[in-house]
Amino acid sequence: MTVPGAPETGYWYGGDYNPEQWPEEVRREDMALMRRAGVTLATVGVFSWSLLEPEEGRYDFGWLDRVLDDLHANGVRAALATPTASPPPWFGPAYPDALPVTADGVRLTHGSRDTYCVCAPAYAVASRRIARALAARYGRHPALALWHVHNEYGTWCHCDHVARAFRTWLRDRYGALAALNEAWTTAFWSQRYADWDQIQPPRATQYLPNPAHRLDFRRFLSDAMLGHYRAQRDVLRAAAPGVPVTTNFAYGGWVPVDPWTWAEHLDLVAVDHYPDETGLAAAEQTAFAADLARSWAGRRPWLLMEQAAGVTYTAGGRTRPKAAGELTRHSLAHLARGSRGAMFFQWRASRGGAEQWHAGMVPHAGPDSRVFREVCALGGLLPRLAAARDADVATGAAVLWDPECWWALDAPSLPSSGIDYLAAVRQAHRVLWRAGCTVDFAAPVREEGRPLGVSAPLLVVPALYLASDATARALTEYVAAGGTLVAGYLSGVADTFGRVRTGGYPGALRDLLGVRVEEFHPLGPEESVPLAVDAGRPELGAGSDWSERVHLAGAEAVAGYAAGPLAGLPAVTRHRHGAGTAWYVSTRLSDDAFGRLLGLAAPHVAGAPGAGAVPAGVEVVRRHRDGTAWVFVLNHTEAAHRLDVEGLGLRRGARDLVSGAPAEGLRLAAGGVAVLEGRPLA
Ligand code: GLA
Repeated sequence: MTVPGAPETGYWYGGDYNPEQWPEEVRREDMALMRRAGVTLATVGVFSWSLLEPEEGRYDFGWLDRVLDDLHANGVRAALATPTASPPPWFGPAYPDALPVTADGVRLTHGSRDTYCVCAPAYAVASRRIARALAARYGRHPALALWHVHNEYGTWCHCDHVARAFRTWLRDRYGALAALNEAWTTAFWSQRYADWDQIQPPRATQYLPNPAHRLDFRRFLSDAMLGHYRAQRDVLRAAAPGVPVTTNFAYGGWVPVDPWTWAEHLDLVAVDHYPDETGLAAAEQTAFAADLARSWAGRRPWLLMEQAAGVTYTAGGRTRPKAAGELTRHSLAHLARGSRGAMFFQWRASRGGAEQWHAGMVPHAGPDSRVFREVCALGGLLPRLAAARDADVATGAAVLWDPECWWALDAPSLPSSGIDYLAAVRQAHRVLWRAGCTVDFAAPVREEGRPLGVSAPLLVVPALYLASDATARALTEYVAAGGTLVAGYLSGVADTFGRVRTGGYPGALRDLLGVRVEEFHPLGPEESVPLAVDAGRPELGAGSDWSERVHLAGAEAVAGYAAGPLAGLPAVTRHRHGAGTAWYVSTRLSDDAFGRLLGLAAPHVAGAPGAGAVPAGVEVVRRHRDGTAWVFVLNHTEAAHRLDVEGLGLRRGARDLVSGAPAEGLRLAAGGVAVLEGRPLA
């Protein structure tokens, strides 16, 4: 099977390669080390604009010619980047209007990276020009495997170019100013616009901003950046037809990019992932990111474009080396979920520059290091896993993920400052991950009539604050057809403009869930409410963060508030609808309690193949194709474990592609990995 952006066989393996930072002899050593490590792909030129075009319109390609020729001579393909994420020093003085402006009105200057405005005409022209020059020179180079446009789109700007582009975008969206005034509720606080030109980007203002204005600005930024990507993509495609084009998505609340919309414009979805937690939490974050990437890509290939080989930053702002085996487990967690490779930032750790303390596949210590030895071992392992590359990933549940809800719930004017959309989505994923259930993410339905596309029997919907009529209808159809839906608090509340759906929460989902919520009772950081369940049902402990005054309107109570102002009222409900059931959880449950609730709502989750066959902390991902199954087993614990092959859903005779040994009686070392290949039991 040929898929755009994928190597002909096996996996992409390698990282960002920046030989321009090093003397010639280091580059020669790099080639030898890449061969030793089994590198197949190097990402080149991401931040090289100032070397490629040292003066406007004057190019110096000599050094890049040598790099690409060397890579080719050493059997390494190139993901050649357009360098537009870091304009050169001449750019700002020549086009000061193309430097970004913060919400406070400060125009930023050159000195870091990502210092541009995607709406500035001069930046658009310069970006297309360098892309065209690269395509003309390298479009037929034998090393070229992939175009890598830009890097991690996500830069904000509030300048006058942005203001003009924002107004054009709003005109397209609303047609008439009256529609915008209505959608943004501008009657509040004297904000009614009489002319499009009165509308500004959401710059710093005196007190609370208009949430609809902020929300639309993020949507606009996503589209504006997509426009910048597409302009380069079209230039590259025209000059080098047939070479796939991608860009790398970053995860993070600061990124105003909607990957659901972007994915169809990419030949290959690519992501960068840096867990900011440690141990098991880092493994969970990795699974979360990989499941999102696979879901954004739909049925098409995707690629882990960047991760850290060693030292990485934690949420506490400190660097931390990865433990022995961790870079292998993280890489395999991505490959298990369908990534076409495992790539890193960067090949060789820099000596200087702002990221001199960021990991490299070749660390500062050089190749005589445990990191490089593990890099080589992983590079040697990947070809042995090639047979699994195109297999389907078996999933047992879906979680709805909507970046627009994330953006809307990032407003400063919500009923609680403790609302955290990402935390709610991650909890749903984490609880299923711990239950051994691989998760697909589902997109909201943005166009009337489009199906939800969820085939899994369980769909968890955390904090779907903005719910379009189309999404509400699709969720209702999903349940009517037999699905089990578990909706979390703050779902259905507002329309896609962020306007509350009046008459009782959860608004658009009221009928489906069979409840009517009269008011919200947010809880403080130290508060919790005990929950009472009927005898024979699993204990749900206490609710935290949030609670609601829930009235039954067709649903039955599964658990109730047992104290406080809501004592005696339902907290968790279920409502039969058609052939399925819709559950509502009006407070935040602990991970364990949420797991028990999901087990009650969807017993198949607890009974999934693999679940129960391995101890906690051992991750299992199953894939299958043409009657063969591959079971990836990643031991994130510090103890060795014996594998129960039948418990993992394989017939006798399976073997481990990692060790080459029969799978029966296999002992998985502490921190170790196995990829079992065999015939599935059923
Ligand atoms: C991102 C960028 C890289 C590098 C890494 C590490 O993913 O794409 O250029 O900055 O982070 O911080």
